[in-house]
Amino acid sequence: MEHVNRVALIGTGAVGSSYAFALLNQGVADELVMIDLNKEKSEGDAMDLNHGLAFAPANKKIWFGDYADCESADIVVITAGANQKPGETRLDLLEKNTAIFKSIVDSVMESGFDGIFLVATNPVDILTYMTWKFSGLPAERVIGSGTILDTARLRFKLSEYFNIDTRNVHAYIMGEHGDSELPVWSHANVAGRSVFDRIKDHPDLYDEKDLEGIFEQVRDAAYHIIERKGATHYGIAMGLVRLTKAILHNENAVLTVSGYLQGQYGMDDLYIGVPAIVNRRGIQEIIELNLDQDEMEKFHASASLLKETMKPVIH
Ligand code: 2OP
Repeated sequence: MEHVNRVALIGTGAVGSSYAFALLNQGVADELVMIDLNKEKSEGDAMDLNHGLAFAPANKKIWFGDYADCESADIVVITAGANQKPGETRLDLLEKNTAIFKSIVDSVMESGFDGIFLVATNPVDILTYMTWKFSGLPAERVIGSGTILDTARLRFKLSEYFNIDTRNVHAYIMGEHGDSELPVWSHANVAGRSVFDRIKDHPDLYDEKDLEGIFEQVRDAAYHIIERKGATHYGIAMGLVRLTKAILHNENAVLTVSGYLQGQYGMDDLYIGVPAIVNRRGIQEIIELNLDQDEMEKFHASASLLKETMKPVIH
C-alpha cells in the first residue's frame, strides 16, 4: 500500500490557517489534521477548507482532530502560541511560549509521534531548541522555520532592485530570525553574477551602498507589516509549505532553516538560521559557507545573543 502523508497542524490562528490554505492550494500532503485549543475555530476552518477541495489540484482529507491524531503524522507543524504585539520583539515572547510548548510537545509525544517537527512560533530559534529538548527526538528531525522567510524577503527585495525574477536571485539571511540576523553578501548572486559584479556591470543603475538599505528593509519587514495589519502570516505560511514539500518529496532542497549546530561555524548546542539540505529525514546536512570575517563576527554575535536570551528557560 502506498504511504499516506499526514501533516498535523497545531495552532490554527492566522499563520496556521494560512498554512492550511496554501498546503491545499499547492496539493501538498494527503491528509491534514488541524488541532487547536479553540475547537470552534479549527472545526470551522476544516469545514471551510473542505468546501474548497473541488477546486484544489489534488484530493485531500482535512479534518479537525486532537493530539491522538499525531501518532501516524509524518510532520507536526507548530504555529501555536502568543504572537508579537506592536513594538514587542520576538524574544519578548519567550517565556509565554516556552510554557505553551512544553504542554504541546508533551501531548504530541504521548500520542506516539515519531516524525519531524516543524516549528514556526517565535522566538523560533529558541522554541525549536525547546521542542528538541522536550521531544527527545534526534536534532535532525526538529526543524525551525528560521530565516526561510527573511531569505525570501531578501530575494524579493533584490529581485525588485535588479529587476530579475526572484527565483534567479540566490542570497541567504543567516542567524537569529530577528533583529540580529545578517545578510550573506559574500555568497549572494543574481543571474549567475555575484551581487557585487552585477552592480559593477551597471554602475549607472546600481550602487553597492544600496545593499545596506535593502537589508534593513528585510530585517524590519515584520515590524512594518505588524504596524499595518497586526500580524504577518502569508509569507511564513508559504515558507512552511515549501519546507513541508522539501520533506515529503525528499527533495534535498537547500533552505535557510533553524538547525541544530554541533561544531559547525565553531558553535555548539543551539538552533539558529543556516542554509541546510532538507529531505525526508529532516535536516540532512548543515551547509558551512565560507563567511567573510565581518559575516562570521555578526553570525557569532547573533548566536551569542540567542544563547544569552535562552538561558532563563533552559535550566
Ligand atoms: C515575521 O518575520 C513575525 O516572525 C514573523 O514575519
